[in-house]
Amino acid sequence: MSDLLEFTVNLARTAGGILHDMYQRPREIHAKGLRDFYTDADLAAQAAIVARIRSREPQAAILAEENIVPPDEATSIWVIDPLDGTTNYSRHIPVFSVSIALVRDGRPVLGVIYDPLQNDLFAAEADRGATLNGQPIHVSTASDIREAVIGLDWGRGEEARARELEWLRRTGLQSRTIRAIGSAALGMCYLAAGWIDVYYHGALMPWDGAAGKIIIEEAGGQILNHRGEPSNYVEPDCIGCNPNLLSWARASLD
Ligand code: IPD
Ligand code: CA
Ligand code: CA
Repeated sequence: MSDLLEFTVNLARTAGGILHDMYQRPREIHAKGLRDFYTDADLAAQAAIVARIRSREPQAAILAEENIVPPDEATSIWVIDPLDGTTNYSRHIPVFSVSIALVRDGRPVLGVIYDPLQNDLFAAEADRGATLNGQPIHVSTASDIREAVIGLDWGRGEEARARELEWLRRTGLQSRTIRAIGSAALGMCYLAAGWIDVYYHGALMPWDGAAGKIIIEEAGGQILNHRGEPSNYVEPDCIGCNPNLLSWARASLD
């Protein structure tokens, strides 16, 4: 493991520890947009990550969900979702994560996603494979959509919801079953680990998907945008799958 990955793993574990400690305590919940909330736990986890990055690298460019944006000219950017799954977290549905990626020249080169309740740590570095708790992971080999388990999550806006409902109308009768995960970052890891075979989202934000993208790709999976092309981490809608389901995934987008 490179020094940088080790540093990022420590960031994710620190933030995850904060989320874990705060999980059973009363939450302060604030609205920030349509169906969009943050809590004191999101802020505490983000502050811990940002402080550690800044003490290693004072001028670091950071894109973090709770209102930190990088300078326009930045080419190396930490992309952070301190708590992915705020609704789950605040309602005590035990599925949420910390997601941290390092993006260089528009491509995630390293990603870590940590589920503090399960103590599951997913990580990947470019060309070095993806791991779960240090062990290599790989996407599934399922090739028949009738046997496939699909994971998805819901966007917030009306357009995203309509797009997702339309995709479900086209595909919903085909697979073995469908799960709404509640943490897009973890859903992407479940795909990378072969626990699900397809992951779909109609409106990802960069911090939801940057780490997941490299983890999926390093686990042998593919992630496409709505045009069926390899997705960029800033593109909102995506479908990820194993290579055997790629033609099905492309066709599902028509
Ligand atoms: C949300 C989660 C959810 C997804 C939403 C995201 P947040 O992130 O990933 O699963 O459906 O689109 O915004 O707000 O909990 O960090
Ligand atoms: Ca998120
Ligand atoms: Ca978040």
